[in-house]
Amino acid sequence: MSLQPYSSPQPLHSAINVVLDTAYQGISDSDWKNLFASARQSGLEQFIADMFAGKHINNSEDRPALHSALRNLSKTPVLINGADVMPAVDDVWRRIDALCNKWVGVTDVIHIGIGGSDFGPRLAIEALAHVPGIESRGMRMHFLANIDTAELARILAHAQPHSTRVLIVSKSFTTLETTMNAKAVVAWLKENDCTKSQIAHALYAVTANVTAAKEFGIEEDNIYPFWDWVGGRYSVWSAVGLPIALQYGFETFKQFLAGAESIDLHFKNAPLEENLPVIMALALLYQQQKHDIKAYAVIPYADALDWFPKWLQQLDMESNGKSIDRDGKPVKHSSPIVFGSAGSNAQHSYFQLLHQGTEIIPIDFIAVREPMSDRPEAVAHHHILLSNCLAQAQALANGKDDVNPNNVYPGKRPSNLLLLPKLNAFYLGALLALYENRTATLGALWNINSFDQPGVEYGKVLAKPIEKALTSHQNNIQASAEIDAVTAARINFLNS
Ligand code: F6P
Repeated sequence: MSLQPYSSPQPLHSAINVVLDTAYQGISDSDWKNLFASARQSGLEQFIADMFAGKHINNSEDRPALHSALRNLSKTPVLINGADVMPAVDDVWRRIDALCNKWVGVTDVIHIGIGGSDFGPRLAIEALAHVPGIESRGMRMHFLANIDTAELARILAHAQPHSTRVLIVSKSFTTLETTMNAKAVVAWLKENDCTKSQIAHALYAVTANVTAAKEFGIEEDNIYPFWDWVGGRYSVWSAVGLPIALQYGFETFKQFLAGAESIDLHFKNAPLEENLPVIMALALLYQQQKHDIKAYAVIPYADALDWFPKWLQQLDMESNGKSIDRDGKPVKHSSPIVFGSAGSNAQHSYFQLLHQGTEIIPIDFIAVREPMSDRPEAVAHHHILLSNCLAQAQALANGKDDVNPNNVYPGKRPSNLLLLPKLNAFYLGALLALYENRTATLGALWNINSFDQPGVEYGKVLAKPIEKALTSHQNNIQASAEIDAVTAARINFLNS
């Protein structure tokens, strides 16, 4: 005997052939109406307009959040303090296009960057590598983020120094992991007898701090700027996304931007009731208010999107993982914990907890209608992949009764189904922009500034005296204002 079906009315919404099915959210018609009404009352429509108009919605840093200008292919003027930013954006596009045609005989690209300077391009390179028919220049794209030299050593063991290009990608150009890894790669080029001019030829920077890049020794022509009005985790649309253009061509990069632009236009213009990012945000808000959910999962049933949850973790948790609102007052709710990985692998990992654990964890199931390879088995495998995705959502929603309590599924576990018609550069761009706009919407609804990240900084500051103590090799470090007794003991143990 099965439990009562768990579904809600008017579940289907779509934009640019991306379909969002909220049937398994279990939200009634009147609850949806209330959600839209309170979103409207909170001024969400004005927030969206302000965001695209370049108002200083990043209030703590007194800046706009205008990553949408980076995918504004129509080049409609976007004004900051009365000046149109589009000519500068267009100039970078022109230079990216030119660079794609310039590189000949390059075997390896080492992209050095971390956080927002890493996840986006890494995800795109991985995801598009799976797209049947997409042309790749076949360079080995290495992503170097971790200060742990294991990653550095692995990359350098496979790269050919004389035909390597190095992209140093850092908005601030002060991030220690990135600058130290960059110095290590330069040292490796020298060890391998690259001349000064060969090294200068190999080094490129993508940054909002052009002065620091020059001081590092990057030639001006090899510096691709972006701007302080682009948050690091929203920066893949800038020259941070260079690997996409270099590996798959400038047209593919433009397609990626075009998908995002289409979602921006939808987000900006569609009424709240038809607005995909808004509906997704409201569904999460509803589950948070109703079930006090602490986490949500995103499960792409597409191996190509295995990096997507990692990208999303930074986007959501760095943007909205805050406990005060824009006015400095405590908030009741902010970002839940985000996790996920590709299905169906994920089913064989943590789905037990999703089905029968004590926590209710809403899920976004993401599926792609077309198979992701042209192998003869592709269609048959794809049907199994999709049937797994649909079956999990159904089991979670409806549950199952049984005389044996071990076999009872409680059900009423909410989920969305987001269906992409296919996975290519256009729909990858659309998917990322959809979630970016959903994150911004959630921030607006919680009255949180989604565009700063002060919490990340303190740990970095504390690392400095600890590093100094470790480098001293002394094992009699005393507790101080900067190092407490526990950490001092740990340092002494490591140094002994
Ligand atoms: O982790 C904190 C952070 O500031 C992220 O916001 C950013 O994406 C990352 O570090 C890298 O920063 P940058 O691009 O300045 O090197």
